[in-house]
Amino acid sequence: MTADQDRLSVRFWAVVPAAGRGSRMAEAMPKQYLPLAGVSVLHRALAPLEAEPRIAGIVLVVAPDDPFGNDYRPLTSKSLIVAHGGAQRCDSVGNGLRALEGEADEQDWVIVHDAARPCLHRDDLTGLIDTLCSHPCGGLLAAPVHDTLKRASSGGAVLETVDRAGLWRALTPQMFRYGLLRDALAMTKAAGRDVTDEAAAMELAGHAVQLVEGRPDNIKVTRSADLEQAEHIIAALGQ
Ligand code: CTP
Ligand code: MG
Repeated sequence: MTADQDRLSVRFWAVVPAAGRGSRMAEAMPKQYLPLAGVSVLHRALAPLEAEPRIAGIVLVVAPDDPFGNDYRPLTSKSLIVAHGGAQRCDSVGNGLRALEGEADEQDWVIVHDAARPCLHRDDLTGLIDTLCSHPCGGLLAAPVHDTLKRASSGGAVLETVDRAGLWRALTPQMFRYGLLRDALAMTKAAGRDVTDEAAAMELAGHAVQLVEGRPDNIKVTRSADLEQAEHIIAALGQ
C-alpha cells in the first residue's frame, strides 16, 4: 500500500478515558462532571474531538457504577460507543480499545484524550494528526519543560537540581496505531508494569514514539485550583 492509499483508507477513532474518581480534588463528584464555563469538563474535553471531521467515532470510557452521566448521547453527533473503565487509567484505555474490536482495523489510528483535559486547542489536535498520519506507530502532544527542576525529599528539602535539557511534559491526545497500542498495553499489563500514559506502553514495547509540540496550557484538571485556571484558559482560547 502506498503512503497516499494508507492516508485515504485508515480511520481515526477517539478514546476518552473518563472512569477516574478525581480523588485529588475535594469534590463530591468526579472532576470530569464538574461545571466549567457553562458546560461540564467532559463536554469541554470532547468538543475538539467532536469538531475534527477526520474522527469517525468516539469511545467514551466511564466507571461501571458511574452515577452522574448516564445519558452521553447529547455530548457528540459522531458514532458513540460507551465502554466501562478499569482499576487504572491504562485498564480503562485497554477496555476502550476492546470496544473497537471488529470495528477498527490494525492500521487505524486511535486518539486517546483525557476527559480531565478541557483546554485542548483545535489547532493542536489538527497539528497532531497532520504530523503523525504517515508515521509507523504514532506519538503524543508534549510541551518542553522551561522551569528549573528540583528533586526533593518527602520533607521538601532539595536533594538536587535535575538537568531539564531534553525533558518534556507528556500531554494528551496521544495518537497510535490501533493494533500496536492494543498489543503494547496487553504486554505491559501481562508484565505487571503500570503505565500512566499510552506512550509509556509503546516505549516499553520498543516503538519509536514521536513528540509533537503542543500548547503548554493544555492542562489536566487535577486539583481544585486547576478548574479556575482552566476557566481563564478557555476564555482566552475563545473556542
Ligand atoms: N481515568 C480512567 N480510569 C481510571 C483512572 C483514570 O479512565 N481507572 C481517567 C480519568 O477519568 C482522567 C484521566 O484518566 O480523565 C487522567 O487521570 P487522572 O487525572 O489521574 O484522573 P483521576 O484518576 O480521576 O484523578 P485522581 O488520580 O486524582 O483520582
Ligand atoms: Mg488518577
